[in-house]
Amino acid sequence: METLVVEAPSHTPTPVDRVVAAVDELPPLPTVMSRLLLVVADADHTLQDITAVVRLDTSLAAATLRLANSARYRPASGDVESLEKAVQVLGEKLLVQLVLVRAAGVLRPRALSGYGYGAEGYWKRSVRTAIASADLAERCGVPSGLAWASGLMIDIGKMVLGQFLESLVHEVLSVADGRFGGAFDAAERHVVGIDHAELGWHLARKWGIPEPIAQAVRSHHHPGGHPDHQRLLYVVHVADAVAAMSCPEPGVDGMRYPLDPQWTRFVPLGERELQEALLRVEAGIVEAEKMMRI
Ligand SMILES: [Fe+2]
Repeated sequence: METLVVEAPSHTPTPVDRVVAAVDELPPLPTVMSRLLLVVADADHTLQDITAVVRLDTSLAAATLRLANSARYRPASGDVESLEKAVQVLGEKLLVQLVLVRAAGVLRPRALSGYGYGAEGYWKRSVRTAIASADLAERCGVPSGLAWASGLMIDIGKMVLGQFLESLVHEVLSVADGRFGGAFDAAERHVVGIDHAELGWHLARKWGIPEPIAQAVRSHHHPGGHPDHQRLLYVVHVADAVAAMSCPEPGVDGMRYPLDPQWTRFVPLGERELQEALLRVEAGIVEAEKMMRI
């Protein structure tokens, strides 16, 4: 049993127990999504395992076939007529993206004003992080499907903490600037008693999210603090910064999370390569939005 380490809040705190208890108010993850997360977190999984998940949902299976037959992906050899062939044509990264953008309704809160997100703001920011994570993962030896899923999930704690921050966000920003060099998560801990990453870890446990993804949630702003899954943790850590730079609606916390100084050990990319990743995130967002409609 892991010990929850919580800093003493500054004054008149929102009781941490009440914040953590609010995790139980969120609905469960859709079954398709839960199954997919289990598959991608298994290092020995195959494309057939993903096919079995897609097959759970007839509309998802139909969308997979439509995507494989779309102008962008349809092979020169002709129509794709079976789900197995469609899965081969699309590959893991695209399949994970298709399943999650279509199945992750619970991750689409209407607005999170505590973080400055309007309607769909949280969702769009999370999809950008997912796309950036998979993009960097392919260059760093991390499975892209696992990275896509992890990037999508890292800020789930905001869905709960956002409601408590509505009345506290000005204080959090003031404390961040006054005491923590701008770091938003340190100010969350100081004012509320818990930050969105730690709270997200509680939610990940409630949802039964597999270990690597749950650790990505918990450690995404401090990837050096956990010895396992280091490469994945650093990939989502850097991807979060890339997504924040590319996002037109980055939220009030935006760029208020310093990069861990060890990041180049695990994500050995230069400034030019990161700029190129930014451009690919923009292109990826367009594709993801198409997937919602296909
Ligand atoms: Fe975060």
